[in-house]
Amino acid sequence: MEIKKISVIGGGTMGNGIAHVFALKNFKVNLVEISSELADKSLLNISKNLDRQVKKESISEKDKQEALSNINKIIGVDKTPPDSDLVIEAIYENKEAKLNIFNIINDIVKKDSIFASNTSSISITELSSASRPERFIGMHFMNPVPVMQLVEIIRGFSTSDDTYKAIRELSIKLDKVPVEVFDYPGFISNRILMPMINEAIFALMEGVASATDIDTVMKLGMNHPMGPLTLADFIGLDVCLAIMEVLYNGFNDSKYRPCPLLKKMVAAKKLGRKTGEGFFKYS
Ligand code: NAI
Repeated sequence: MEIKKISVIGGGTMGNGIAHVFALKNFKVNLVEISSELADKSLLNISKNLDRQVKKESISEKDKQEALSNINKIIGVDKTPPDSDLVIEAIYENKEAKLNIFNIINDIVKKDSIFASNTSSISITELSSASRPERFIGMHFMNPVPVMQLVEIIRGFSTSDDTYKAIRELSIKLDKVPVEVFDYPGFISNRILMPMINEAIFALMEGVASATDIDTVMKLGMNHPMGPLTLADFIGLDVCLAIMEVLYNGFNDSKYRPCPLLKKMVAAKKLGRKTGEGFFKYS
């Protein structure tokens, strides 16, 4: 089956990036939001991000206009077009809310379409249970979607080979680099990244070095573009804690225990960039 029509549920940080990259490659995209205002906000963000690409001359003004004309806004998940070949869910990270979305669209959208979730940590196998397990898959894009090349493709327990192949080929058409990952807590990206960030927070808590010096070690010593504590602030400390809890509970292994300092900072609402303060201060 050729995938031509895409529905993206949720037009937030990730959803608008996903709609952007598909629309730019001439796919027809339905952007599904909960209100007209939020859908407009999402489209405005896409337009601004396309402008940035026009300025850098990586796309033309005509490409931008065509991309925007490929996006159709839809209000309410129950209005998801039944002829969607692929539905990508990108609402907030909550298992019950996501299961509810898949439950609703399973009754509406044609039976041979594929369902994907952009979740960064919830089990694809569990999410697939509400709808069509063989035609269900994880498509974990990275933020910002138009810039980052990687897509982790996560195969749930029952994901069929055909579904995997279709999504792999589709990712390549988007000029992304897909990697095949099986469904274990944190997949690959967060299983490796988050314990590193957590360890950096332990080192800070134990007074091994200052926050700036910990980041300097990883930037200048390991050639990381950003230190782990700056990265944690960028991702959001609440998100980091939630993912560490997924790893800790999913593996029942103490090596994934969230650092007490991370917990304390989340309790104090020092969540990083979005609250103006985390390991560093932002104005
Ligand atoms: P966000 O909070 O920016 O956006 C979520 C959007 O979904 C909002 O615009 C909201 O109005 C919409 N929404 C909520 N309920 C809806 C419904 N019933 N129907 C239609 N739209 C609905 O969230 P973000 O950051 O884009 O995250 C989305 C998913 O992507 C999460 O599962 C997250 O774990 C994952 N993710 C996030 C990354 C990030 O850096 N932000 C990176 C990779 C994955």
